[in-house]
Amino acid sequence: MSYPTSLFSANLKFDNSPVDLTQNDFSGVLSIAGCTATSLVKEFGSPLFVIDQEDFFRRTIAWQEALNESFGGGVLYYAAKSFICVEVAKWLIELDVNLDVCTGGELAVALAANFPSNRIEFHGNNKSVAEIEQAISAGVGTIVLDSFIEIERVAKAAKAANKVQNVYLRVTPGVEAHTHEFISTAHEDVKFGFSISSGAALSAVEKCLTFDSLNLTGIHCHIGSQIFEVEGFTLAAERLVATLAQIRNKHGRELAELNIGGGYGIAYTTQESAISPETVLPVLAKVIKEECAKLKLALPKISIEPGRAIVGPTTTTIYEVGTTKVVTLDDATTRTYVSVDGGMSDNIRPALYGAKYSAFLANRKSTAKKVLSRIVGKHCETGDILIFDINLQSDITPGDLLAFPATGAYGRSMASNYNHMPRPAVVAVKDGTAKTILRRETQADLLALDVIEAPRQLS
Ligand code: LLP
Repeated sequence: MSYPTSLFSANLKFDNSPVDLTQNDFSGVLSIAGCTATSLVKEFGSPLFVIDQEDFFRRTIAWQEALNESFGGGVLYYAAKSFICVEVAKWLIELDVNLDVCTGGELAVALAANFPSNRIEFHGNNKSVAEIEQAISAGVGTIVLDSFIEIERVAKAAKAANKVQNVYLRVTPGVEAHTHEFISTAHEDVKFGFSISSGAALSAVEKCLTFDSLNLTGIHCHIGSQIFEVEGFTLAAERLVATLAQIRNKHGRELAELNIGGGYGIAYTTQESAISPETVLPVLAKVIKEECAKLKLALPKISIEPGRAIVGPTTTTIYEVGTTKVVTLDDATTRTYVSVDGGMSDNIRPALYGAKYSAFLANRKSTAKKVLSRIVGKHCETGDILIFDINLQSDITPGDLLAFPATGAYGRSMASNYNHMPRPAVVAVKDGTAKTILRRETQADLLALDVIEAPRQLS
C-alpha cells in the first residue's frame, strides 16, 4: 500500500478531500515514497521524522507558481523556522527560492549550505548586535527592522561595515488573526513590529530615511500562523497598501516591495481543510491590485513567506508503541493509553497550543474493534499527550508502529531534550531510497555539554 502524501496537505492542486484516517482504510504497512515504515524504523530507529522530498519540491513549486500567476511574478521566501537543515537549504537553492531566517543560528545553517546570502531575509524582534553584524557581513539581502532601537543598531552596523543595507519595516496592521493567541502576531498588543494605527510605522519610516546606511525598500507584515480565513490576509493587505500610500504622501517615496508574510493553515485532521496557494493568492492579488489602483500606486513586488504550508504536510513521524494500559472511565467506557517512544520533546504543539493530530497503525493490518484511546509520550508529565482522544484498534501492542502525518513544521524545529531525550533523526525518502538529513542525537551528544570545572573569580 502507499501513502497519499496529499492527505493532510496544503492540498495544492490535489483534491481537497482528506481521507478519514480514523477509519484506517489503509491496510498493511505504510509506505512513503516507496519506503516502508518497518524498513525505515529498522534502519534508522524511532521516533523518526520521514520527509518526502518530492512532496517538498511539489509544494514549493505550487506556491511559487501560484505567486507568479497571481502577481505576474513575486518572491517566495521559505520560513526556515518551520524546519531547516543544510540538506533542505540545498533543496531550496535547487528550487531557486528565497529564505527567511530569524536567528544567527538559522542564518548559519543557510550559509553552511552556501545559500546565496542576497536571497536571505533576516527577521526577529530582538536580533542581537552580534547577529546583526553577522547578517550584514554575510551580505543578507534584506533585514526586517522590528523596533526603533533596531533601526539605529542596523544603521550603525551597516555604516561600520561600509555598506548600505536593504531593509523592510515590519508593521502591525491591527488584524486579529483567528488562530491560537500564541501564534497571532499582527494585533496591537503584541511584541512585533511598528503599529500602523498608532503612527509608529510612519515615524519608523522617517527615522529610517535619516540614515545613509539604510535603504528602505519595503514593508513587511505577518499576521500569524495556521490561519484558515482569507479575510485576515485581505484585511491586512488593504491596510498595508494604505500604509504604502501614506508613506508616499508623507515622504514622497513609493516603496517598491511588499512582503505579506506566511501563516497559511494546513490540515492536521480530517476536520480541517488546508488553505491552498491557488485559492488564497488570487484573492490577495485582487485586493492588492484594486487598492493600489484606488490609491494610484504602482503594484509593488510581492513576497510571501510560508513555512508550514510547504514543509508541514511533507513529513510523517513514526513512533514505536512501548506500553498500553486500559483505564475504566465509567461502567460503559474505557480508555486505552498507548505510550510511544517520543512525545512532547519531538512534538510540543499539542501541549503548547492544544494542537490536534491524527495517527494510524503503520506496520500491519488490523481489523480489531476500534476503542477510545489516548496516545501519550514517555515524558514525566501528565500533559505529555500527543492525541487526546482517538479511536485505535484494540489490539495495538508493544512493537507496533504509529504514524502521525503532517509533522514537518514546528516539530523537529521545536524539539527539545527534555528528560534528556536525544532528538530524533530526520530521514528524506525518494523513489524507494532513504537518507539521513539530520542524524539522531545520542546520549553522548547530550553529555558533551556537561562541564566540571573549578570556580573562577570574576572581575
Ligand atoms: N514569517 C514570519 C515573520 C513568521 O514569524 C512566521 C512564523 C512565518 C513567516 C511562517 O509562518 P508559517 O507559514 O509557517 O505559519 N510554533 C508555532 C508557529 C509559530 C510561527 C512563528 N512565525 C506552531 O507550531 O504552530
